[in-house]
Amino acid sequence: MKIMLTIIRVVHILTLIAFAHSDYYIESSDGGIVNCVDRMAQPAFDNTLLRNHKFQESPSKIPTTTTKSNTKSKWRTTEAHVSIANCPRGTVPLRQDDASEYPGNNTSTQTTHEYADKSTDDSSKLYGAKATINIWDPKVENKEIELSISQLWISSGDYAKNNLSTIEVGCQVYPQLYTDNKPRLFIYWTSDAYQTTGCYNLRCAGFVQTSRSIVLGGAIGPVSVFAGRQYEITIQVWKDQNHGNWWLSIGPDNSIVGYWPAELFPNLDYADEVHWGGEIVDSHKFDRHTKTQMGSGHFPFQGFGKASYFRNLEIVDSNNFQPIQRLKINANHKYYDVKNLDIDEEWGTHFFYGGPGFSDIYSGVVPLRVKLYFICFGFGFFIII
Ligand SMILES: *[C@@H]1O[C@H](CO)[C@@H](O)[C@H](O)[C@H]1NC(C)=O
Ligand SMILES: *[C@@H]1O[C@H](CO)[C@@H](O)[C@H](O)[C@H]1NC(C)=O
Ligand SMILES: *[C@@H]1O[C@H](CO)[C@@H](O)[C@H](O)[C@H]1NC(C)=O
Repeated sequence: MKIMLTIIRVVHILTLIAFAHSDYYIESSDGGIVNCVDRMAQPAFDNTLLRNHKFQESPSKIPTTTTKSNTKSKWRTTEAHVSIANCPRGTVPLRQDDASEYPGNNTSTQTTHEYADKSTDDSSKLYGAKATINIWDPKVENKEIELSISQLWISSGDYAKNNLSTIEVGCQVYPQLYTDNKPRLFIYWTSDAYQTTGCYNLRCAGFVQTSRSIVLGGAIGPVSVFAGRQYEITIQVWKDQNHGNWWLSIGPDNSIVGYWPAELFPNLDYADEVHWGGEIVDSHKFDRHTKTQMGSGHFPFQGFGKASYFRNLEIVDSNNFQPIQRLKINANHKYYDVKNLDIDEEWGTHFFYGGPGFSDIYSGVVPLRVKLYFICFGFGFFIII
């Protein structure tokens, strides 16, 4: 009896040690804490749709691109860094904060989403998209709810019919989720128009990470400087035609992050639309439009170094990345805008976008320049008399 008890106690202690060792916390390059989890025990594999899924080590093929890297460009830019953790082989980094509950819907406030973006305007079948995105840290006014995003998103289906599928990747400032104002690398997906599926990064069971170093949700830096040095990251998403999975790579050298398994998407054999551009959430605090910025917070007419850009826009129509020639504009033009497409050899298909959100010009408060004009005019009038 005593021996039995001892054995049970020893087994119990060994179990505790085993579980303690499954938590392997290290610091990532952005100063965050990540848990290096066994890649076969990552959140994705809690999804019952993946019960028979076979882990894919790498994509069967990376589509070629027409984008030339390291060419002398008309505008000088620098690749930004995503957050890196040095996790052991066979594990993947999971941000500690992503293991906690998703910040709930703040149902006490009605919010609207606003966009300033470009999208494909015919119904051809698309199997991937890529772009190089300028990195900024737009100010978010209501930090309890609002956010500012620069992303590419590919989709099929219909929001109104609840069969919209999306894959979204980019850079976001989202204080409620990350408790800071840094631009962060994020991914998102839904397979039912955000009804029962949809989450950021690895916060729900879906995306399968293969990289043992790239941290989803990690900070991107450095941030571009107004009229100064410009930073950017390159993002590629494509469908593996052999297995049906949608792969993600980052950077001009295609660092593979992982994939969205085909099983997640009953209605995404191919995408019927791709968007590139900005999105913000407005919570209508202070009974007016939000001052949350999009892109650099400056309107696109200001151009390189001041307004934010997307460049080298490409899509996969059959096998490889091809420049896209024609896109339609989606923007309200008042608070955020998108400039017409430019196409040239170095920057491929590119455009500027963004804006300041609400500004006092719309509030009835007379801007200083107008006031000065009236003061001068008044003074001149006085002299004439
Ligand atoms: C958030 O709100 C939507 C729509 O109101 C709902 O479908 C979804 O379940 C909610 N999510 C959470 C986490 O409460
Ligand atoms: C929800 O939003 C309101 C208004 O901005 C804010 O006062 C409240 O703290 C928020 N609640 C949560 C749980 O974030
Ligand atoms: C979405 O639903 C509509 C109506 O049921 C259907 O016509 C359409 O083909 C569906 N789209 C996808 C991608 O499944």
